[in-house]
Amino acid sequence: MHFTSLLSAAALAATTAAQSYPLTQVYQFENSFSGVGYVNIENIALRKSNGQLLLNTVTGANMAQLDPANPQAELLVNLTNALGNGQPGSLTGIAETSHDVYTVAAGNFQFGPQVPGGVLGVNGSFSVWNVDLNGSPAKTSLVTKIPEARSLNGVTAIPKSDLVLIADSLLGAVYSVNIKTGEYKVVIQDSLFLPNLGVVNFGINGVQVKGKYLYFTNSAQMIFGRVPIDLQSGKAVGAIEIVAKGPAAGATFDDFDFKPSTGDAWIASQPTNVWQVTQQGQVNLAVNSTELLGPTATAFGADGCTLYVTTGGVGGGPSGPMSGQVFAVDTCGEQQGQNQGEKQWRKWRA
Ligand SMILES: *[C@@H]1O[C@H](CO)[C@@H](O)[C@H](O)[C@H]1NC(C)=O
Ligand SMILES: *[C@@H]1O[C@H](CO)[C@@H](O)[C@H](O)[C@H]1NC(C)=O
Ligand SMILES: *[C@@H]1O[C@H](CO)[C@@H](O)[C@H](O)[C@H]1NC(C)=O
Repeated sequence: MHFTSLLSAAALAATTAAQSYPLTQVYQFENSFSGVGYVNIENIALRKSNGQLLLNTVTGANMAQLDPANPQAELLVNLTNALGNGQPGSLTGIAETSHDVYTVAAGNFQFGPQVPGGVLGVNGSFSVWNVDLNGSPAKTSLVTKIPEARSLNGVTAIPKSDLVLIADSLLGAVYSVNIKTGEYKVVIQDSLFLPNLGVVNFGINGVQVKGKYLYFTNSAQMIFGRVPIDLQSGKAVGAIEIVAKGPAAGATFDDFDFKPSTGDAWIASQPTNVWQVTQQGQVNLAVNSTELLGPTATAFGADGCTLYVTTGGVGGGPSGPMSGQVFAVDTCGEQQGQNQGEKQWRKWRA
């Protein structure tokens, strides 16, 4: 059973603006980096201790570090086959849980045209790990396997607790996991978290605890929503609210980050987009560029203005393989809105 309430009808009816922001490519992985012919970046976190970027890949259970000021990817963690049997083969979500310690989700996915929906989680392959970057080399430890999980994806920490919440994109649920004891359970399950099986096998995807809410995206249902939670247990204490609905094709919302100064969510989306959603539910197509090879996740840099966007790249097809990229979007820079043409014209005339 679930209860749906709309945040406000007015918010959902809000018109979609199209303001675009300056985009710069920071890095593109070498195809050789992963050992499987290309690199698909799934998730990103800002490493607060040094301002660098942590990048999780699904092409190998790898975590790389990238210094945006001197971009050269460095492999920090490789959990590929750490459990044997080829498991895990991928890393997905990442969240900092204490100083320079990260919890990541891991598992295996089937890829390719023979899979309805293109990508599908493999039953029995999912697990959760702690990665301690306080020393070098990084120390990794298994928190727990979750045999019932079907597609562990976004990870978020509940502040001042030992709990992380992890989206299961295929099950349509959120797990709580105690990163000290390994105890886990499904704390929220709802039809608003479900995928569209065989079409888009990813429902709930990105997750972030902010204030007393768990914010989430659902890729298949093209929604950005939130649910009030108990900060001790992670359980829902109220109805799920839809903050915004994707207004058009190209709004298969994936991972996101909040801009510190405004609280707007900046959401990566297939095939070429970044969407900006205000707290009031207004939706702006912030970036739409064919340079972006399948946006997967976003993270604000330490300056609070630069939004880093990762992409999955292109694995197969006539144009593949092209590895995943990292872009920087200047969200404080001048926007190129509808009047851009006019501005250019005036400049040219002057
Ligand atoms: C990660 O480890 C696996 C298994 O040992 C190995 O096959 C693979 O080449 C390693 N990946 C990288 C990028 O070093
Ligand atoms: C995976 O597990 C689910 C739930 O138990 C089941 O419905 C599904 O058929 C399984 N998929 C495969 C490929 O075995
Ligand atoms: C993004 O740009 C492409 C190419 O111009 C266009 O076809 C597509 O509709 C745009 N996406 C959105 C969501 O407006």
